Amino acid sequence: MAVITNVQNQLLSDTEVVQRIFVHIDNATTDKGEQTWKEPVDNYRSKKRLDAELKILQNRTIVFCPSSALTKSGDYIARDVAGIPLITVRGLDGKVRAFRNACRHRGVQVAQGTGCARALVCPYHGWAYSLDGSLKSIPHEHGFPDVDKATRGLVAVACCESNGLVFVNQNPQANIEQDVLSVPKLIPDGYRLLNSSSQIVEANWKLHLESSLEGYHIRQTHKNTFFPVQYDNLTLVEAFGENSRVAFPYQSIEGLRHKKQTDICVNARLTYVYHLFPNVVISTFPGCMQVVILEPIDESTTRQHTYLVSDIDEKETEQLKAVFEGQKFAAKGAIEDLNIVLSAQRGLASGANTFLEFGLFESAIVRLHTHLAKEVGRLDNPLCE
Ligand code: FES
Ligand SMILES: [Fe+2]
Repeated sequence: MAVITNVQNQLLSDTEVVQRIFVHIDNATTDKGEQTWKEPVDNYRSKKRLDAELKILQNRTIVFCPSSALTKSGDYIARDVAGIPLITVRGLDGKVRAFRNACRHRGVQVAQGTGCARALVCPYHGWAYSLDGSLKSIPHEHGFPDVDKATRGLVAVACCESNGLVFVNQNPQANIEQDVLSVPKLIPDGYRLLNSSSQIVEANWKLHLESSLEGYHIRQTHKNTFFPVQYDNLTLVEAFGENSRVAFPYQSIEGLRHKKQTDICVNARLTYVYHLFPNVVISTFPGCMQVVILEPIDESTTRQHTYLVSDIDEKETEQLKAVFEGQKFAAKGAIEDLNIVLSAQRGLASGANTFLEFGLFESAIVRLHTHLAKEVGRLDNPLCE
């Protein structure tokens, strides 16, 4: 597997991106992929397919949250990952660990949602676990003469913090430290959590994801929001490993036309959307970044976890106000996307299509489906590469 510097080198520099965008602006062109794709509607609707996708997610190293969502010892986040309840917690030693979120007495989740605790105490009968997962105490312990506390800690899941992100992998054979090397540093040092939220989206996780990965819909879907400040159908699409980066320029990029190459700063000139295969999207916005994790609930329901991170100091109220204004604007566009996605979800059931069509402008989505098809194929034939 490639080392970090090589991964970073797979992506163009900001200066190269800006130069390529100017070529597209001047020629009214955009990046095009090499192939189109027909994705069977069944792959969005079948339980069998979703089960396969969950299995893939359970056996991959995937982003759980940004590190800044777990800053202090005792900070925890409990949520499902590919249908399995997990909890991540920062220990007294500063290390983030992940566990299957099930009490070793009778399986109840030891914590829900987010919080900060000195110990994880099961809400049912009060078995208490240290932040490193070890079973610390059992109320009225004499009732459990056979329980060896040393072997009844929370069950650990592979967890690793790298470049400002927390990763987990539920496969006990995983080499998570190796895997995270394939993800370049996306979140700069010093970024802290501004806010986080979760929302249910009544659509298949892939339909929802697809709406972030192409700029072919800017004029039509975002007529009065993004289109007046961006470009219709003008994106740069790059591949790194199974992942993609899509650059969406704003018209303000024109301000960089005559800048020296060394002065290039793309903040507020373009949005990078990084798709970390399969279910994570990290986007850059003016003054902040957004980490979105899509948790498939069933074939037609997704839970979206969103983390907004920034390096703007809490005391810089004017700058923070500007970030939140920008986010309000982005949220308008996100609602437009959401309505389209919900409509596409209903379209799946209409019987009109046996497949969805992805063109040359939608190559990041083609890559998503290509790799997913390969992974599903591997589940069916584990010996085939
Ligand atoms: S199930 Fe957790 S203490 Fe009983
Ligand atoms: Fe959109």
